[in-house]
Amino acid sequence: MRRSFWSVCLIFVLAVGLVVSMSYSAQAKTEWKMCLGDAKGGTQWECGLRFAELMNAYTGGDTVIHLFPNGQLGSEQETVQNCRLGTLDFSVVAINNITPFSKTVGLFTLPYLILSLDEAVTLTQGPIGQKLVENTIRDAGVRILSWAYSGFRVLTNSKRPVRTLEDLKGLVIRVPKNAIMIASYKSWGINPTPMAWNETFTALQQKVVDGQDNPYLTNYVMKFYEVQKYVTNIRYIFSLQPLIISEKLFQSQSPEMKKLILKAGTDATEYARQFNALTVSKVQKLLTDKGMEIMDPANNEKEWIDKATKAVWPKFYKEIGGKEKITEALKAVGR
Ligand code: MLT
Repeated sequence: MRRSFWSVCLIFVLAVGLVVSMSYSAQAKTEWKMCLGDAKGGTQWECGLRFAELMNAYTGGDTVIHLFPNGQLGSEQETVQNCRLGTLDFSVVAINNITPFSKTVGLFTLPYLILSLDEAVTLTQGPIGQKLVENTIRDAGVRILSWAYSGFRVLTNSKRPVRTLEDLKGLVIRVPKNAIMIASYKSWGINPTPMAWNETFTALQQKVVDGQDNPYLTNYVMKFYEVQKYVTNIRYIFSLQPLIISEKLFQSQSPEMKKLILKAGTDATEYARQFNALTVSKVQKLLTDKGMEIMDPANNEKEWIDKATKAVWPKFYKEIGGKEKITEALKAVGR
């Protein structure tokens, strides 16, 4: 009698265990990984986090996306390749780190092509941006879901105030491994040092390089004020930070899930646009509070603009799909 009581108890416990484990697997979540080149708090983080929250909400809590900031899963260019291979699900990177894999995207890294946030929004969200999304899927195996906007890349250095191209001479400046950006600095008379983003802070700290360029907010969240003193307010590239998904992963989803991913991407873009508009004006003060000196280039940046547009644009006509792509972009923004 006693034995059969304990046998019944055991069967009951096993049955409960089975039901619990079955219901657990019925609720199994989809877990994805997203890498971000920048630190928490920047535009990449805000856009990526919003996307992850929206995906979680749109799927009733069934999709969890884990964010890995500070290039923990590789350099930005490595993460683009890993998304192409399908070994990484998502990444948020600067547009200049996609260009090496899909040359036509170089249109958006041409110096002085995009002159304001409004122009960046018009170009990325209009037909030109849509075409570049398609080209990126074709060439790089990644799909741009969202565009985050970080503002103009400004020049920082640890050595001296820079206002003119003469002041720039002799400085060792880190640039991304991006042919258009390398050519821009060459047009200004110096040979820059191409280097992956996740090696940049250490290189600045150890004085392997004297300076670099990135938007104000990026410079702040990356704590560059600890290793850089002078900021020159050049406006040569308006930094776009696309959130990409592995096209392999995207194509493996159900039609319903694809719709939700695209919707979360569009909604995160709108959030990222508002985030940029709200914060860019405050960051300069945060940087000066940390001891940085901010200055404008001399003569409204005229010598910088003339040299870069004359030397760099024609050099890349072929890669971006022809001179007419520039004409089309300028027309779209009313210039
Ligand atoms: C770079 O300089 O390589 C990138 O612009 C960094 C970033 O993604 O913010």
